[in-house]
Amino acid sequence: MNFIYFHCFILFISLHGVISNRRNVLDSRICFADGFSFGVATASYQIEGAWNVSGKGEGIWDRYTHAHPEIVVDRSNGDVADGSYYKVKKDVALLRELGISFYRFSIAWSRILPNGLSNYVNEDGIRYYKELLAELRRNHITPVVTMYHFDLPQSLQELGGWTNPIMAEYFVDYARVLLDTFGDEVKIWLTFNEPYTFCEDGYGGIEAPGANSSGFEDYMCGHNVLRAHGMVYRMFDKEYRKKIGGHMGITLDFSWLEPATTSEEDQQAAETARQFYFGWFAHPIFSKSGDYPPIMRSMIDANSKRQGFYHSRLPYFTPEEVKMIRGAYDFLGLNHYTTYLIKHGSRRLGVQPSFVDDMNVIKFQKDEWPKTNSSWLKVVPWGFRKALNWVRLNYRNPKTLITENGVSFERGLRDTKRVNYIDSYLRALHTAIHQDGCLVVGYAYWSFLDNFEWTRGFSERFGLFEVDYQSPNLTRTARLSAKYYTNVAKTGCLPNNFADYTYNTD
Ligand SMILES: *[C@@H]1O[C@H](CO)[C@@H](O)[C@H](O)[C@H]1NC(C)=O
Ligand SMILES: *[C@@H]1O[C@H](CO)[C@@H](O)[C@H](O)[C@H]1NC(C)=O
Ligand SMILES: *[C@@H]1O[C@H](CO)[C@@H](O)[C@H](O)[C@H]1NC(C)=O
Ligand SMILES: *[C@@H]1O[C@H](CO)[C@@H](O)[C@H](O)[C@H]1NC(C)=O
Repeated sequence: MNFIYFHCFILFISLHGVISNRRNVLDSRICFADGFSFGVATASYQIEGAWNVSGKGEGIWDRYTHAHPEIVVDRSNGDVADGSYYKVKKDVALLRELGISFYRFSIAWSRILPNGLSNYVNEDGIRYYKELLAELRRNHITPVVTMYHFDLPQSLQELGGWTNPIMAEYFVDYARVLLDTFGDEVKIWLTFNEPYTFCEDGYGGIEAPGANSSGFEDYMCGHNVLRAHGMVYRMFDKEYRKKIGGHMGITLDFSWLEPATTSEEDQQAAETARQFYFGWFAHPIFSKSGDYPPIMRSMIDANSKRQGFYHSRLPYFTPEEVKMIRGAYDFLGLNHYTTYLIKHGSRRLGVQPSFVDDMNVIKFQKDEWPKTNSSWLKVVPWGFRKALNWVRLNYRNPKTLITENGVSFERGLRDTKRVNYIDSYLRALHTAIHQDGCLVVGYAYWSFLDNFEWTRGFSERFGLFEVDYQSPNLTRTARLSAKYYTNVAKTGCLPNNFADYTYNTD
């Protein structure tokens, strides 16, 4: 990672920026450097709707929510969602109002390739994303595009989805279509969003596709996703970088994992948990040595053997694959929301194989940490700084784009608690950059709009804009946090005066 490259990246994402934070010396506000970029994030299935129109193929979340409405708390689905498919102009106008410089969204594989395969391209899918990109360009907003955000075409799921090694090849074909079609417009690419989440919750658990096979299919999924990521990055590097330019990374999620006590056992357990939850995907790509974290390899190998398996349940990479995947990044996309405490576990011999059993730790949160509307999400801003520093120390300070950080609260426009969350997390981020030296180049709030929050349906709201799901127009209304975030994005600074964002307006 040379400096020139890093510089180009900063230059690129701030090129169209609206940041003009000229300040006088008496200004005591906390300010991010010129060139630091602010954005917002969404994902296709969570906002687009239009699940079965104009040639779009069925995705695994379409199939799963239709077949199993009971897995979603409010029995809802993404059939209509925010109707963003029909609201390109309106939504980009709102993005512009926010004063942000980049918009992170994902492309629905089955809208581009209805059967998942590259022999038939759906023209309407191309049209839709081209329209969105053109509208962003007109409004000077840089697109950051995720190729895969949980929505595999159902036809590929019939072949085993990510447990089938051939999926990596099909993902390369899909990526080629995207780079050929949108490469002139899109210069910042993410291959995958949160592989831990979709491999563990989808293949190890009961979210789509609902394989519920922890300790087996989750590891197969992870293995093929890592191969797919490496293969797409190498293709991009070899065939596209010179021609169309751009930068490619992957988005990984990292909740901070803090030892519950100062005991040696718990310190060790917390480090093991970091290697399992984050290192599983980060170590093969971002570490100097590559491959799975040694602790993950040794614990799963030993556990598999003890359970009577001839082969480890964690597949092995070939030496060529290790090399291909290692260093396959221009930057790290990092999602961070919350923190957990970790205690060492006491494995019960003979239990069903599982990810948690392999890792052998206990994960929990403190009751006194401020609650949100998501049971898993407590407000712990200091964990953000610790997570960023762990990345800096373990992976030679990779340049990092925060691709998601955000919080859910109940409906309502006067969301001072959200303003407080964002402000406190941005303060932690500022400290990580300016005191600790973490190389973070931008920040995206999750999410632009309220949206379909997977198994939580529409019950948990993360939006800067509230969506009225009762209105036929799916009306969007700015929350107080949108006003706060606009100020941050336009000035590059955190406001001193919170009174502007408290409840006394009208
Ligand atoms: C698309 O799905 C909706 C339900 O979301 C259904 O009412 C409609 O008939 C479907 N249209 C087609 C063309 O299948
Ligand atoms: C998932 O697997 C576990 C362990 O085998 C089982 O107890 C549970 O009932 C399964 N859940 C579903 C929804 O299939
Ligand atoms: C989130 O808000 C809804 C609606 O008020 C409520 O029913 C639910 O219990 C809340 N969830 C959490 C985890 O606080
Ligand atoms: C919905 O949108 C239409 C067309 O823009 C507009 O005429 C109508 O007043 C809107 N309805 C509501 C309830 O906002």
